[in-house]
Amino acid sequence: MNLSEAIYQRRSVREFLPKKVEPQKIEILFKTAMQAPSAGNQQPWEFLVVTCKEKLQALAKAHPYATPLENAPLGIIVLCNENGLRFPEYWQQDLAAATQNILLQCVELDLGAVWTGIAPDTSRMEYIEKLFALPSNVKAFALLAVGYPLYPQKEERRFKANRVHYEEYKKASF
Ligand SMILES: Cc1cc2nc3c(=O)[nH]c(=O)nc-3n(C[C@H](O)[C@H](O)[C@H](O)COP(=O)(O)O)c2cc1C
Repeated sequence: MNLSEAIYQRRSVREFLPKKVEPQKIEILFKTAMQAPSAGNQQPWEFLVVTCKEKLQALAKAHPYATPLENAPLGIIVLCNENGLRFPEYWQQDLAAATQNILLQCVELDLGAVWTGIAPDTSRMEYIEKLFALPSNVKAFALLAVGYPLYPQKEERRFKANRVHYEEYKKASF
């Protein structure tokens, strides 16, 4: 599979087969996550892997749209370690890039995933930080439900030519 195929095939997956994700595949997800660009190459990411059923149930209650964690064999919490950041104001962008790498890598590994938003909602962040007793310099950014998809996903083409401006911005086009 080439990169374009993975990009077009990726969809959010919210229902999963009752099948564990192999440790080798989990490691590949983090190898590609950590290849992401980051401001000043600061690489602020850390990841918390959750397979314990009770913890997954608790994560599903992190916010009203986190219910895919209820039936996922694997949860990944994308974290920021704020220690020694060169450009602290960019950490969320750094982690978004790493998160997207995970979602795309899932496609190639026949896995599916959904990104459930945590940061910048402070109540969601604090819920996870408390659940795992994270140190104060570690922030929760995103919560991913990962597993083998219960159903095949449909591709959806989203290109809109009027969202691209050449040389000058054309106001009426949006
Ligand atoms: C920042 C962010 C937060 C999201 N939060 C949730 C969420 O809380 N629950 C959920 O089921 N999907 C969530 N999604 C997934 C979006 O709903 C999904 O990407 C969008 O509907 C497009 O569908 P697709 O991912 O299948 O292409 C989130 C996506 C992003 C990028």
